[in-house]
Amino acid sequence: MFSCSKFLRKKRELDEVKIMTKRRTSRGVLMFFNREKEMEEIRRIVSTEPNLITFVYGPINSGKTELMQKVADELPENFAAFYINLRGEEVVSAENFFEIMFDIREEKTLEKILERIPRVSLGIPIAGETFKIMFESERKYRRIFRYITNALKSIKDKGKTPILIFDELQVIKDVKIDDFLIYKLFNFFVHLTKELHLAHVFAVTSDSLFIEKIYSSAMLHGRARYILVDDFSLETAKAFLRENGFSDEEIKLTLDYFGGKPIYLVEAVKNRHRLREFCENVLEERRSVIIYALNELKRNNKKLYRDVYEILLEFKSEEEVECRDITEAVSWCIDKNILFLNPRKMILKPQSKLDLIAVREIV
Ligand SMILES: Nc1ncnc2c1ncn2[C@@H]1O[C@H](COP(=O)(O)OP(=O)(O)OP(=O)(O)O)[C@@H](O)[C@H]1O
Ligand SMILES: [Mg+2]
Repeated sequence: MFSCSKFLRKKRELDEVKIMTKRRTSRGVLMFFNREKEMEEIRRIVSTEPNLITFVYGPINSGKTELMQKVADELPENFAAFYINLRGEEVVSAENFFEIMFDIREEKTLEKILERIPRVSLGIPIAGETFKIMFESERKYRRIFRYITNALKSIKDKGKTPILIFDELQVIKDVKIDDFLIYKLFNFFVHLTKELHLAHVFAVTSDSLFIEKIYSSAMLHGRARYILVDDFSLETAKAFLRENGFSDEEIKLTLDYFGGKPIYLVEAVKNRHRLREFCENVLEERRSVIIYALNELKRNNKKLYRDVYEILLEFKSEEEVECRDITEAVSWCIDKNILFLNPRKMILKPQSKLDLIAVREIV
């Protein structure tokens, strides 16, 4: 319906030539590597009518945010993306959430605001006065959802497909209105996608317990799809390091410590002049954090500590294990960002190669 096949074709031609591209951001020009499969999947999703909520999940620092920003940056003109990043935001109430979600503008009316819709905005635009009146009204939440629906309709009427991207959505998992805000939001997202076909909705998270809850929630059954953004494969990581001028020996050393974790690969490139020392320092840091967490647990809850230890022991010989039951011990390991759960495949694995090595050294 919202054809961007020309865009897809052009992209494909470009990608055949290069896998390392530049992305201009507020942090300057960044090198963006690969992710073709995931980008292709997202491009395919946004080029059809909105129908399902898309959850983008994966281990920490696997490149989810980088990917979604790249996707937003490259959208053709007939899209309007609203990128709402909850990272680092302290969201203790629904009010906090909506304050972050909206981009309060000087213009007096929505019509005026929508005279110029950028391809990427950092919130849903709203006139200051409208925001104030809406927030002071008794039925504010109902009015907020109605306002967003109308704003998205107006954007669509102007020939642009709206895309909502919520990064770190799990931040609001405990926030309540009458019941949990997150359920109200999910209902609203289902309304925007499956019922109105009005906007694409992407929710990004690295919290695998949160994803598991969503995955098993009856409310979202058949109304959501899931895209896993995992660490780079070893082949991709190798190609990344090679493009950055690493020798075979340097590549081997880096992969031995970090596997395909993008953030560490980027840092390894920056620390190439003292690569071995850098690798050892990062491992040392990770190992001490895990040891402190385990010791604290041992002091406070001996039984849980023993269960956790037993789980970690499994990784002495395995890189991933099957997980059919999310016990308290499993939750603890996930909560401490030591392990990552893929609920769809029911697989539990360390958050990174570094965590795997650290765990093996500790247990
Ligand atoms: N495709 C990529 N090309 C180059 N560098 C990347 C890529 N993906 C990620 N990175 C690097 O890894 C870092 C972490 O990525 P990002 O913040 O996107 O991870 P994340 O999965 O969103 O993390 P979190 O789980 O904390 O939300 C980036 O700042 C960037 O330096
Ligand atoms: Mg992120």
